[in-house]
Amino acid sequence: MNRPTLDDATLLARLRELGEVGRGADGRLTRLAGSAADGAGRDLVAGWMRAAGLAVTIDAVGNLIGLWQGSAPVGAAPVMIGSHIDTVIDAGIYDGCYGVLAGLAVIEALQAAGTRLARPVALAAFTNEEGVRFAPDMLGSLVYAGGMAPEEALAIRGTDGVTLREALAAIGYAGEAAPGFLRPHAYLELHIEQGPVLEHEGIAIGAVDRLQGISWQSFRLSGEANHAGTTPMALRRDAGLVAAQAIAFLREAIAPRGGTTLATVGTLSLDPGAINVIPGTARFTLDLRDPDEARLAAAEQRFATALRQLAEAEGVTVETTRLARFAPVLFDAGLVARIEASAARRKLSCRRITSGAGHDAQMLARICPAAMIFVPSQGGISHNPREFTSPRQLADGAAVLLDGVAALAAPPGPAGAAQGGS
Ligand code: GLV
Ligand code: MN
Ligand code: MN
Repeated sequence: MNRPTLDDATLLARLRELGEVGRGADGRLTRLAGSAADGAGRDLVAGWMRAAGLAVTIDAVGNLIGLWQGSAPVGAAPVMIGSHIDTVIDAGIYDGCYGVLAGLAVIEALQAAGTRLARPVALAAFTNEEGVRFAPDMLGSLVYAGGMAPEEALAIRGTDGVTLREALAAIGYAGEAAPGFLRPHAYLELHIEQGPVLEHEGIAIGAVDRLQGISWQSFRLSGEANHAGTTPMALRRDAGLVAAQAIAFLREAIAPRGGTTLATVGTLSLDPGAINVIPGTARFTLDLRDPDEARLAAAEQRFATALRQLAEAEGVTVETTRLARFAPVLFDAGLVARIEASAARRKLSCRRITSGAGHDAQMLARICPAAMIFVPSQGGISHNPREFTSPRQLADGAAVLLDGVAALAAPPGPAGAAQGGS
């Protein structure tokens, strides 16, 4: 029985290989959930899982789960690790993929060391974490944790009008297993920070102890399309103007500089969309976040009131659709302490941190103790092709994940043997 050693070079090579799947002729990487590129990425990852001897299962919402049973007693609840491999539009290569591929590297290292397991290890790539095509985000893990019925999720239409059911069938990932078929003993997710804090403070490891609340809504404003040259300003019902005023209100009143509330209008479209036509319809989405539930709810309320008033003043009507609403999550204190202890043993600097991004771990926290490990993101940049974390930093995070999995699935003693770390 040897001490497990991570193959950092293979982890990096796989990240780069997966990062080419879905790269268009324009050089941009886009692997939206349920797309052909997602199917190709899944094929690659499932192939690596099978080559490592994992039993691969696809559940009814397309979650891809590889199980390493090893010497663990049949029926023992698995330690689950993983993340997602779908991406945003024009993405980087690390978001989500790092957690899945580092998880695979951890399993391979434990296997190579001849580790005897007290519990199986399950490696998950959850469906549609990003939520760019299908809302809400974290959809696969939400269903896995019992927060939405599979049938409801499968009926959701993507931004292109295709249902999740149709998209998964088209790429051969409409599975049969019931989501939640493995109830985890614990869930650990390794992820890039996607923000500037760790880099700014020169810290190697973030022990993520909480995750902020997320509210997604879309709005359709209806006014009247009319001639730009003949309609006096006083007689206009300009839906585009109301959208612009609402966006400015968000920055000025709801989410000013220095506050904890974050507001983003990431999509905006005007219809009919012509230089000489007053916009009759404006559509936009709003992503609101805050670590405090009461503040998040208050921000939603204040925005709804302001939007109604702005619309009324212009003779415009408002239709609101809720796309996602997740309260802030506290992660498991015991797991967070384990992450800190592992970092300390490895002489890696570490601090507790709040996740600004949504993650599958927040859903798994509904059914088992869960926590996350963060590594720095260069320049705090993510959801952007410039997303970067150095090979050293990636290896450090994977080592902390290795320690966590080893301690949970193969504790020292008669059942488990090899210990990661220290
Ligand atoms: C997921 O990437 C999010 O939007 O936080
Ligand atoms: Mn992610
Ligand atoms: Mn993301």
